[in-house]
Amino acid sequence: MKRIFKTAVGIVFTAACAMSVCGCNGGNGGDADDGLLKNIYKDYFPVGAAVKTGVLDLYEDLLPHFNSVSTEYEMKWAATQPSEGAFNFDLSDNIVDWAEQNGKMVRGHCLVWYKALPSWVLREGTTKEVALQRIRDHVYGVLEHFGERAYCWDVVNEALADLPKQYQLDSGEFYRTGAEAAGVECGDWYALCGNDFIKEAFRAADDARKELGLDIQLYYNDYGLNIPVKREACLKMLEEMLSEGIAVDGVGMQAHYYYGDFSMKEFENSVKAYTELGLDVQLTELDIAVYPYSNSVPEIYAELPETIAQIQAAMYGGIFDICRRYSAPWKEGAGTITGVTMWGVADDGTHLDSAFGRKDWPLLFDEEHRPKLAFDAITEFYGKSRKQ
Ligand code: XIL
Repeated sequence: MKRIFKTAVGIVFTAACAMSVCGCNGGNGGDADDGLLKNIYKDYFPVGAAVKTGVLDLYEDLLPHFNSVSTEYEMKWAATQPSEGAFNFDLSDNIVDWAEQNGKMVRGHCLVWYKALPSWVLREGTTKEVALQRIRDHVYGVLEHFGERAYCWDVVNEALADLPKQYQLDSGEFYRTGAEAAGVECGDWYALCGNDFIKEAFRAADDARKELGLDIQLYYNDYGLNIPVKREACLKMLEEMLSEGIAVDGVGMQAHYYYGDFSMKEFENSVKAYTELGLDVQLTELDIAVYPYSNSVPEIYAELPETIAQIQAAMYGGIFDICRRYSAPWKEGAGTITGVTMWGVADDGTHLDSAFGRKDWPLLFDEEHRPKLAFDAITEFYGKSRKQ
């Protein structure tokens, strides 16, 4: 009975959302009473979702919830400069054009990453100087093309070691390299350039935005930045860059979290630590897997168990509570949380399915595009404040 009731409520709610947005076409019309995430959160920060070629029609019922989008692939190096000097923005512009027509902001993701890297960039015989020049050329070419159509950029993505050890923190050798930078369409920036590739990417982006007169923000983006050892490595890296006058505006916490492997306290500690540097923070790829990351041979579920859905909802609720609290300066000079982006729109389109080869249900809407308990958990605050 409960399931049937929830289903009925879900259908009615989704229809109400669809009806309420038919007039505003995903723009910023409506107010929080229309039940749309972007309006419920309009006093806090933009709420985004990652999209990719081919899904805009599939999610036309849910995309009005979001006032920001990221592209899962289309703005990465392999897509935008597949061969040297030959930029191609066809795929990315399709999404950016749609975003503008539908009143969405766009997060640029990403300029320099060890993945989605065409083989020509670090091909055999490439010197450090040539590699750094290729970064400068790529960053300038992409920022010149998009201008302010992307309001911020993940300038460098996943440059830190997967999970640094204490000895790596002590020696300063806590960057991604070797086996962790290996794979198809991958490159080991650190082996060739040390951490200069990170600094050069941000210098190039800062130089480009100045030369082009762009009011855009520059982020360092990575996963696991809520984990103490990786947080320490990130802080060391950022402090070194900031001390050298390198412009970094924010930290992108990807926020790919896992049931059973998560500390809300450490998440808040990380938000405090990065904002205390004066940097803004965004959650850039939020999803909450229903399997523990550390459990290599988990039970594979046929559907989302109700008990896990409830735990997932509590995690979402706690994370968004913290994000709302830190969306305003919590101390003099501190940065704030300036955005939360889900890495996907609904459970029928999560990257986790292909990433781990098992069905997952990590997002706010289920496979039938109905709001989940997780959606309720991040919006009930509004209901309460509305009743007060
Ligand atoms: C993933 C996309 O979701 C996939 O569609 C694509 O094939 C590979 O990249 N961290 C990141 C994202 O920064 O760019 C990755 O996105 C997921 C992990």
